[in-house]
Amino acid sequence: KYLQEDGVSEDCKKLLSTLPKEKGWIGSYIYNYQGFWTSPRLIQGVIACQQQFQAQNSDIILVTTPKSGTTWLKALLFSLVNRKKYPIFEQNHPLLVKNPHDLVPFLELKLYVDGQVPDFSSFTPPRIMSTHLPYDSLPKSVQDSRTKLVYLCRNPRDTFISMWHFTNNLRLDYIDTNSIEEMFDHFCKGVSLYGPFWNHVLDYWGKRIEKPKKVIFLMYEEIKEKPTIQLKRLAEFLEFPFSIEEENCGVIDEILRMCSFDNLSNLDVNINGKLSTGEETKMFFRRGEVGDWKHYFTLEMREKLNHIIKQKFHGSGLNF
Ligand code: A3P
Repeated sequence: KYLQEDGVSEDCKKLLSTLPKEKGWIGSYIYNYQGFWTSPRLIQGVIACQQQFQAQNSDIILVTTPKSGTTWLKALLFSLVNRKKYPIFEQNHPLLVKNPHDLVPFLELKLYVDGQVPDFSSFTPPRIMSTHLPYDSLPKSVQDSRTKLVYLCRNPRDTFISMWHFTNNLRLDYIDTNSIEEMFDHFCKGVSLYGPFWNHVLDYWGKRIEKPKKVIFLMYEEIKEKPTIQLKRLAEFLEFPFSIEEENCGVIDEILRMCSFDNLSNLDVNINGKLSTGEETKMFFRRGEVGDWKHYFTLEMREKLNHIIKQKFHGSGLNF
């Protein structure tokens, strides 16, 4: 689906012909639009949502670099924000029967994909949605409203390995796979999905200082290490803090258990299911660990990425 240019409109094809392009991670090519790299079919969705999406002050939008743990954060956000409507201890919780991507839809990848007009009638506030867009490419109304942005990033080494596996899985049914060496060079040049990775991360890292009420910056590794602290921090930022009673009743622990890799990846919906957009749900659960990159990187790859990370994040206060 994300692959070729077949499905895109004539206008979009015209636009594509003017954009820089490189060999794709999933399809034949990846294009640079507004400074970030993305697949041809998604550019249509990006333009449609930039032109049409009307944000509400109560909206919550999860922004991530692809493969940084979006599925996990969608589950956490959904269960956190909807815990009155869907009590976390109940047997019929939506997360038990639906994949997080179907509960928290992407703007450009789902709601506006192919330039379609979404129906928001079934959404009740606060609406929770997600995107991979850099800040300046977000719809104007998102930037100008009091919409909250929850940003998630992950160590670039693990993000790269996860992206390489994921995109090769998507390619498998159609074409050959991409070698790790080739895609590593691409990643290092900044040519990754919604990359350059460093630009994406630094963009929101800066925004969290500029707009502390609007942007919270979360890291995959920090949530893994101190899940309770990070979930409480998120709840407070969203103005849905946990009460003492909730804490005492184990609501936080139960949300974390429900959304854990072990629990979600063993549910039937995430083993045998498909998303409403067609992808197999099991693709979003691979290992879910910190440091898996160590099983793949050569010494040369380590040194090259270390050097780039040092250079790109120098003086930012961000350490990977
Ligand atoms: P790995 O490929 O390293 O295993 P995204 O959701 O942004 O597409 O990111 C996918 C990555 O998050 C995959 O990483 C996946 O295994 C991991 N993941 C999915 N669900 C998770 C969960 N509940 N907890 C921790 N990691 C999870």
